[in-house]
Amino acid sequence: MKAVLLAGDGIGPEIAASVKEVSEKLETGIEWKEFKAGAGYYEESGKLFEDGLLEAIAETGVALKGPTATPIGKGFRSINVQLRQHFNTYANLRPVKSIAGVPCRYENVDLVIVRENTEDLYKGIEYMYDKDTAHGIKLITKAASERIARFAFEYARKHNRKLVTAVHKANIMKLTDGLFLDTFRQVAKDYPDIEAKDVIIDALCMKLVTDPAQFDVLVAPNLYGDIISDLCAGLVGGLGFAPSANIGDKTVIYEAVHGSAPDIAHQDKANPTALLLSFAMLLKDHDMADKAEKLRSALFDVIAEGKHTTADIGGKAGTKEFTKAVLEKL
Ligand code: NAI
Repeated sequence: MKAVLLAGDGIGPEIAASVKEVSEKLETGIEWKEFKAGAGYYEESGKLFEDGLLEAIAETGVALKGPTATPIGKGFRSINVQLRQHFNTYANLRPVKSIAGVPCRYENVDLVIVRENTEDLYKGIEYMYDKDTAHGIKLITKAASERIARFAFEYARKHNRKLVTAVHKANIMKLTDGLFLDTFRQVAKDYPDIEAKDVIIDALCMKLVTDPAQFDVLVAPNLYGDIISDLCAGLVGGLGFAPSANIGDKTVIYEAVHGSAPDIAHQDKANPTALLLSFAMLLKDHDMADKAEKLRSALFDVIAEGKHTTADIGGKAGTKEFTKAVLEKL
């Protein structure tokens, strides 16, 4: 199969190199179509991504994406957000699971975040009302709320999960989050085999840090989904362990939850696990579940043994040494 590889900024090229080596070792037969994109490419070319990227993703329907940096408070809009909106990858699936050997607060976390990926404040509809007042529009539609709720329940049914919890702040944002919640409750009626609950975002944060095992599938509007994803990554040892997939009807873009980590970039310090786990999701979705499982167990073995782990979890190995240990296990 052909797939697009977009290494991105910062640690992106280092962790993308790990994926390419692992893919070769697993004999996946994937032919990578590589494209440059991100803040670095913008500086050298004045463009956000290489010509042909959108066409290549449209043609293959699958991309693995490294992190791309976005300027804060000014400059160009996030490439991630643009790709998600362009390809209408409306569901951002973010599994969060404890891994043996990774120091973290809980050993029993096993939940999945389903983040709505196309609207909410992420739509970027902002303007200056006057010179001292900025307006931002929180856009929530019934259609997108229904689509994401249905996705969450279908996912739960397919993966034998028993509970779907909607995340909101409908007590304050009665119209926008209210619509999201009402739509969720309507959709839930079609899935009597799965328990449906809802939780207010602030209470959820407290419950996640005190007892994350009570949650199973969480479905959230875009911004809350983004924030709880990092919180949940922290529950299982940090951003180095959080994979994701941006899923649309025709296109899936797999990527780690983390960013370009400029503080450790180009130093052989990055943990490639999150992107490798995203790659395992890609393999599983493309009839290579056996190879995905092989990769996951090689990763978990190397991490559990603790001899070649990266600095984010207290190890001494670099990206290359960690990758080599995974390749040896494979
Ligand atoms: P970040 O996720 O890049 O880094 C946060 C902290 O986690 C840093 O201390 C970093 O060293 C550490 N970290 C992240 N990934 C790691 C890994 N694989 N191994 C070891 N340590 C890791 O978040 P930050 O600093 O807020 O953002 C940096 C840039 O990344 C920004 O320009 C932001 O816009 C962009 N970004 C891009 C994303 C994407 O392309 N999907 C997602 C999040 C941020």
